[in-house]
Amino acid sequence: MLKLTNISRSFAQRGVVLDNLNLEAGMGDSIAITGPSGSGKTTLMNIIGALDRPDSGDILFRDASILSYSSDELAKYRNRNIGFVFQDHLLLNHLTIKENIMLPVFAEKISEKEYADKEEYTVLLMERIGITGLKDKFPFQVSGGEAQRATLVRALIAKPAIILADEPTGSLDSKNADLLGRLLIEMNRDFGITLIVATHSHDLASMMGLHLSLDDGKLKG
Ligand SMILES: Nc1ncnc2c1ncn2[C@@H]1O[C@H](COP(=O)(O)OP(=O)(O)OP(=O)(O)O)[C@@H](O)[C@H]1O
Ligand SMILES: [Mg+2]
Repeated sequence: MLKLTNISRSFAQRGVVLDNLNLEAGMGDSIAITGPSGSGKTTLMNIIGALDRPDSGDILFRDASILSYSSDELAKYRNRNIGFVFQDHLLLNHLTIKENIMLPVFAEKISEKEYADKEEYTVLLMERIGITGLKDKFPFQVSGGEAQRATLVRALIAKPAIILADEPTGSLDSKNADLLGRLLIEMNRDFGITLIVATHSHDLASMMGLHLSLDDGKLKG
């Protein structure tokens, strides 16, 4: 489903970060990427999520090269296929948890019927993830673990093919980290969503089907 070939990325001050890197992910795979700080995990996630472009190499998603997409097509690729979960939850403080979750729904024009369906799905997912009681709260009124679970629901709303989680448990205590890890795995197993998780946590990495480490700009098994 997702195939990265010979991906390289350098930055002026830093030099080569990703060096002819290859990665293949099938539907329903769960992949952990570990590696020292500065090894390029976030750089790789940003490239997969089309937030950044590699200097060379190719990225195929369902056999189409996303690097040839226009910016509109890239936005569509992101909105429809990728769910992002980052370390810092990036919820907007002036919107309620439910409004924050539904925000991506407004990125594309939809009918009233589609909106009603999305709202129903939001309610269902919030229940599933266990945050129904938070729907009318503002982000500053909920804990870090709760905010991170809200971020997971937001990432799931568009029924993405892939969830990219960059250090999703980095700011959580061990109990909340474990809960979020288990929820990610549940979504992977029950909805067949491909999970790519960059993390320093070996506990979280060990929950994934495949564990790769990023070293010298390449992924190793
Ligand atoms: N936009 C940028 N401009 C310049 N240098 C960058 C940029 N993004 C990343 N880098 C550099 O690339 C290297 C890899 O950074 P990256 O954030 O991908 O590492 P990481 O593996 O995610 O680290 P961490 O575990 O600390 O999150 C670092 O040396 C970083 O300073
Ligand atoms: Mg990082």
